[in-house]
Amino acid sequence: MSTAWAIRAAERRDVVDILRIEEAQFPEPWSKRMLLEEIANVETRRYRVATEGGTIVGYLGVMFVMDEVHINTIGVLPGHEGRGIATSLMNETWLSLAGTECTRATLEVAVSNERAQKLYYRYGFRPVGVRKNYYAKQGEDALILWADLTRPPTIVL
Ligand SMILES: CC(C)(COP(=O)(O)OP(=O)(O)OC[C@H]1O[C@@H](n2cnc3c(N)ncnc32)[C@H](O)[C@@H]1OP(=O)(O)O)[C@@H](O)C(=O)NCCC(=O)NCCS
Repeated sequence: MSTAWAIRAAERRDVVDILRIEEAQFPEPWSKRMLLEEIANVETRRYRVATEGGTIVGYLGVMFVMDEVHINTIGVLPGHEGRGIATSLMNETWLSLAGTECTRATLEVAVSNERAQKLYYRYGFRPVGVRKNYYAKQGEDALILWADLTRPPTIVL
């Protein structure tokens, strides 16, 4: 399926646009410095952006720990949700994991964030526990999700 956006590796120059999405979408956004460190750390991180007409409309960053991949952050520009941008970013990352040593994926998601949970469940993530007050600013718990990557990669069409 062709899309109006393209996915490429995140670069330092993208940080302002990523930050704008982060601040609009998260009650506890990451700082510019944290994001720059994440993007620069190509050894253990993998950050991708979706661009449309020169605008960054979404981003996805993961962290590798041993044979695990941790979804650190995913965000879509307000007004562009529901178009499949996050699904494209997840598909691109999931395809990149095929043939690597990653066998498991994990993430934390706010218990109230049903939109994100629905996205993750489509990639085989399932809840295994709760981190109490993980999002301290909102006083909200996080669900801990895990997915088994030893089966063929899940691609959502
Ligand atoms: C969660 C998020 C990344 C999803 O991105 P997206 O590009 O809108 O997602 P997609 O268009 O690929 O849709 C994937 C699924 O998300 C859900 N979804 C997306 N937009 C939605 C909306 N407006 N209302 C309800 N559900 C929605 C649906 O389950 C959708 O699948 P469906 O279209 O088959 O019903 C985006 O909403 C976002 O940036 N949210 C704020 C940041 C956030 O919560 N990140 C996750 C932290 S753990």
